[in-house]
Amino acid sequence: MTDFKNKVIIITGAAMGLGFATAKVLAERGAKLTLVDYNEESLSTAKNEILSEYPSTEIVSIVADVSNEDAVKNYVDETVKAFGRIDGLYNNAGIEGRQASITEYDVDIFKKVIDINLTGVYYGLRYVLPVMQKQNYGRIVNVASVGGIRGVLNQVPYVASKHAVSGMTKNAALEYGRYGITTNAIAPGAILTPMVAEAFNQINPENPKKAETEYAQINPTKRLGLPEEVAKVVAFLLSDDSSYVSGQTIAIDGGQSNMYGNV
Ligand SMILES: NC(=O)c1ccc[n+]([C@@H]2O[C@H](COP(=O)([O-])OP(=O)(O)OC[C@H]3O[C@@H](n4cnc5c(N)ncnc54)[C@H](O)[C@@H]3O)[C@@H](O)[C@H]2O)c1
Repeated sequence: MTDFKNKVIIITGAAMGLGFATAKVLAERGAKLTLVDYNEESLSTAKNEILSEYPSTEIVSIVADVSNEDAVKNYVDETVKAFGRIDGLYNNAGIEGRQASITEYDVDIFKKVIDINLTGVYYGLRYVLPVMQKQNYGRIVNVASVGGIRGVLNQVPYVASKHAVSGMTKNAALEYGRYGITTNAIAPGAILTPMVAEAFNQINPENPKKAETEYAQINPTKRLGLPEEVAKVVAFLLSDDSSYVSGQTIAIDGGQSNMYGNV
């Protein structure tokens, strides 16, 4: 499939996990990519891996922390300089923080989670939307979480930030729909990425695999999701085919967010 030929897509948090999986799917389908991440080494490895599989992919890679406004403005400017336009933004970079109850939560970590997961996504919207507005075309996918639909024990800033991402998604859809721009959010459940592996480490440091297996049992599918299963939904939302879908938060969780009690 080459439906992303000549499409320019920015992916934040592109070095690992969901961002990297989406970068590979889009490279396979012909996209030009700006890969953004604050982990320089992993970003360089990710770029090389994509180029070894899809050698003709045009890639700009930019080391940037999405919670730094100037750095976000810069990744947008550099993309326009290199490719002349921006068709899609996968506003994906995020962190989980730590597991602790509300009263025991470390305030500095609370602020950091909000800075990256909420303000970082906002900066992405703030600087990409004017470019898309001029083009009269754009596709934005923000990354929320099932923690943006429901509460999750011991993850208060994560849940607050992800609910906010879902809210900002609705606003972007309302305010910019008239310019041919759609904005949606995805709400992944537990997808097996480095971030989730780290969460299982925190839940059961002696036996993280046991924590993972137990967690999967409460999902209707009895398994965790795979990054590729998320990437294909993101690709649809970034494609021309999703032209009348906007302002939605789409769960990618094997049905778990519909559940009340045990399955
Ligand atoms: N994996 C899941 O099950 C799951 C579920 C729900 C939501 N999410 C969300 O999906 C997104 C990606 O998660 P993942 O599981 O792939 O995580 P991950 O930790 O595997 O990868 C995240 C990537 O983002 C980068 N990153 C983090 N903070 C950054 C910053 N401030 N600036 C630039 N880059 C930064 C990291 O270096 C890393 O490469 C996050 O927003 C996360 O909250 C993931």
